[in-house]
Amino acid sequence: MTEAMSAASTPEGLDAQDELRSFRDRFYFPQARSGVEPVYFTGNSLGLMPRHAREYVDQELEDWQRHAVHGHADARKPWLPYHEFLTDFMARVVGALPIETVVMNSLTVNLHLLLVSFYRPTTDRYKIIVEKGSFPSDRYAVVSQIRFHGLDPADSLIELTPREGEATLRTEDIISTIEREGSKLALVMLGGVNYYTGQAFQMREITEAGHAAGAVVGFDLAHAAGNLKLDLHDWDVDFACWCTYKYLNGGPGAVGGAFVHERHARAFDLPRFAGWWGHDKETRFVMGPDFNCLPGAEGWQISNPPILQMAALRASLDIFEEAGMDTLRNKSIKLTGYAETLTKGIGGDRLSIITPADPEQRGCQLSLSVKSGGKSLYEQLVERGIYCDWREPNVIRLAPTPLYNSFQDVYRFFEILRDCLM
Ligand SMILES: Cc1ncc(COP(=O)(O)O)c(C=O)c1O
Repeated sequence: MTEAMSAASTPEGLDAQDELRSFRDRFYFPQARSGVEPVYFTGNSLGLMPRHAREYVDQELEDWQRHAVHGHADARKPWLPYHEFLTDFMARVVGALPIETVVMNSLTVNLHLLLVSFYRPTTDRYKIIVEKGSFPSDRYAVVSQIRFHGLDPADSLIELTPREGEATLRTEDIISTIEREGSKLALVMLGGVNYYTGQAFQMREITEAGHAAGAVVGFDLAHAAGNLKLDLHDWDVDFACWCTYKYLNGGPGAVGGAFVHERHARAFDLPRFAGWWGHDKETRFVMGPDFNCLPGAEGWQISNPPILQMAALRASLDIFEEAGMDTLRNKSIKLTGYAETLTKGIGGDRLSIITPADPEQRGCQLSLSVKSGGKSLYEQLVERGIYCDWREPNVIRLAPTPLYNSFQDVYRFFEILRDCLM
């Protein structure tokens, strides 16, 4: 190896080649504790605060102070159409058309609203395929929807399980289950990326298989939005929902997102739980008794939106627009690959990575399974300034995110992990 080549593969060298390196300065990192600088690898849980979020939120507070109710029309960013200021940006993040995208509510609420429209069980076709070990809220939502239709989850819910001795699902097994259930299948509802294992599902193939079986296909993109390069429109996904407090840095409890494919934009006969924000904008304030639904994803809105939350999210979406999902994903593959290469060599058989090794089947996150003393290893990492998290019974999750993490962060993590394992 030449000297130039070896310098380029040091963490400093890798950071020097990183075209996104300046984006790090756009975020606030948590303060150092006991003099230890943090390594923030929990963007899969709560993304960092963009520095200009305060300015965006302050603008709305000032306009509220100055205009009170007239802010709906007179604010610098008028509140009446405020959610529209986010639509195009969010649509580009998830690979959708603007008419397919809306920012509203929160994730599980959006999931329920979409299931009301897209889980339409009949006597013959009533089953839902989910992944076993999906985020609990998804399971609660799906089971409660099954019961809402008077059906029995024991019969209606099919949970995909990895093969004996494997931690993640094989795409071929997902597809063959879809094919097997065929005419009984109403809905395939998976996560884009599983929160526990970090496995990214092959959404295009799964959607194709679901449609071939005559089913509707939806995804929970909590761990995929802002993480993977998504093409929801081209993949022909029926619906999706996600949160924006993880990779999308919208802040704690930030407003969620929803996607409904253009094919359903004018499906006004679909049952839905309506509210005035889903009503035609031209006549909303006529205050008539009958609901006149907006076309597209906006038609699933119920209430007028939380402006302060949306202002914070707008600050983050501006950054995504500048960075671009292609560039982010390219860096992410390298950054997570680097973390994998370093981590794989340590810990002997005490440590293993359960996230798929294939970059196509994962995003930023790596889930480390720890054979013994996992919780105490996690606590030592936290003590040494590593922000990662612990998921029972034996997993430490870390998510080097391409917007604000560096190769030097990954290297510091590796050094600390290695020390803790000694
Ligand atoms: C995969 C997944 N689904 C659903 C949720 C629940 O989100 P919310 O509280 O916004 O409804 C989360 C929260 O972290 C999640 O990770």
